[in-house]
Amino acid sequence: MGIEKDTVEIWNIYGSHQLARRLELPELDRWDWGIPDTEPGIEAIGEVAGLRVLDLGSGLGRHAARLAALGAEVTAVDASQAQHQRALARYPDTAGLHLVCADAVAHLQEAAPYDLIYSIGGVPYVDPHRLLPAVANGLAPGGRLVFSALHTNSYGTGPSTAVVPRPEVLRLPGTDDYHSVYMWVLEPQQWKNLLAQYGLAVEAVTAIDSPQENQSVSYRLYSARRPERGAGPPRGPRPVGGDDASRAGSAFD
Ligand SMILES: C[S@@+](CC[C@H](N)C(=O)[O-])C[C@H]1O[C@@H](n2cnc3c(N)ncnc32)[C@H](O)[C@@H]1O
Repeated sequence: MGIEKDTVEIWNIYGSHQLARRLELPELDRWDWGIPDTEPGIEAIGEVAGLRVLDLGSGLGRHAARLAALGAEVTAVDASQAQHQRALARYPDTAGLHLVCADAVAHLQEAAPYDLIYSIGGVPYVDPHRLLPAVANGLAPGGRLVFSALHTNSYGTGPSTAVVPRPEVLRLPGTDDYHSVYMWVLEPQQWKNLLAQYGLAVEAVTAIDSPQENQSVSYRLYSARRPERGAGPPRGPRPVGGDDASRAGSAFD
């Protein structure tokens, strides 16, 4: 938990920096999963009207606000007080949008089940052995998990074959100020094994590569489902496991 707490502190620095800049970002033009001008977009999550939805690690909240406008009942959870403050300042009173400042796992342990949990770049900041059981239990039977995760960073370093966190670099937008944060940057097979271990059926893994020739940053989009019936997520004590930058030059809000 130490690494994860340190990460939230870095996101507090990031959020405070963005608050101080007073930058007015427009509403989303198009939806991406971590790299601008890439596919897929919002279609990766399908129809959301009438669904209970969780945005995990929601930052400024623009994606969550988009889904609320489409008729979903969206909770946007972020562990960073500063990131949460940005979302509150931007969306003080938006129908269908609920802004929560909490650790995602703590929130999932007390929330009613969701039909859809999605995350744009937030999942790799949390120990998967802590997060995925909570996600699996936090989904209604038949519910979907869709998340993007860093695959290869800006320096061209590819994913790890072991389920361990590693230092990556987070740049404060508009500066040359870099912060180190630990992330779980894992091979797709590792994510698939973890999802299966916690009772989630993997439906698709989609490569999202930078459209810029000289830029090696790459993401993967994972889509999984809690089975309607059957085994479901395992209960009981969490298994022993390993305990999040990302890239120089953040594309996040
Ligand atoms: C890469 S940013 C993504 C923000 C937003 N999804 C976007 O696309 O702009 C990751 C977010 O995850 C949040 N986060 C990190 N650890 C978390 C945790 N344990 N629970 C909830 N949110 C967390 C950070 O505070 C940060 O706002």
